Amino acid sequence: MISGAHCEQLDPRISYPSYKSFDEFVDVDALRALDGYVRSRIERRLAAEQDRRFYTGPFLLDSSAAELPGTRMIYLSRSTRAEDYYDLDNTDVWEPTEAAEEFSLLMDFIATLPFRRTGRMMIIYDDVARPVSAHRDHASPDLCHEFVWFRTNLDKPFYMLDPATGEQAYVRSHCAWFDTVNQFHGGDGRDGLTFSIRVDGVFDHAFRARIPVPAHNRASTPALWAALEQGAG
Ligand SMILES: [Fe+2]
Repeated sequence: MISGAHCEQLDPRISYPSYKSFDEFVDVDALRALDGYVRSRIERRLAAEQDRRFYTGPFLLDSSAAELPGTRMIYLSRSTRAEDYYDLDNTDVWEPTEAAEEFSLLMDFIATLPFRRTGRMMIIYDDVARPVSAHRDHASPDLCHEFVWFRTNLDKPFYMLDPATGEQAYVRSHCAWFDTVNQFHGGDGRDGLTFSIRVDGVFDHAFRARIPVPAHNRASTPALWAALEQGAG
């Protein structure tokens, strides 16, 4: 199913699994300080059973794995159009939800991220030890979504996986950007409430200027950035 995604058009410096930590670009202490705040609000919603289940999409590593693994989502923004995955960075169509008011301190933190404009924003959480099936987000190598994935604690084991070798790399940082097309990502189950946040949008001009651009396969941009950093370090 993945065959061909690891195509010859990838920059030869790239290797998978990989992710680009964004901890150097954000206030990690401020993010950590939000842990109890976010947790208590999720617990309230959990008690009220008000959130939708997370849909991994059809691009699963193991086609028999659950597409709806049970994880739940809180949308901090909603699209004004019919649901379309490819709208997630179409910043014109997103507006804040009531949950954005409920999580206003989290929204204040999101405002400090290097976006010119934001699109889809959501919290993904689970309260039981349930894995998120390894998946790709879409199958278009020329499409690179600009997003920040982040978390207030490091509780949930979240990994990148190279489909060619099966090798996994667990994310060690609080914040990351990663290639969602040429590799898989997923999470292991862990007891207790676990959560992470993903904000999609358009990075601001100054931030974009720091990002290396691959000659082919734009979806591999975060992987190229990670590779160049490793090479430099
Ligand atoms: Fe995903």
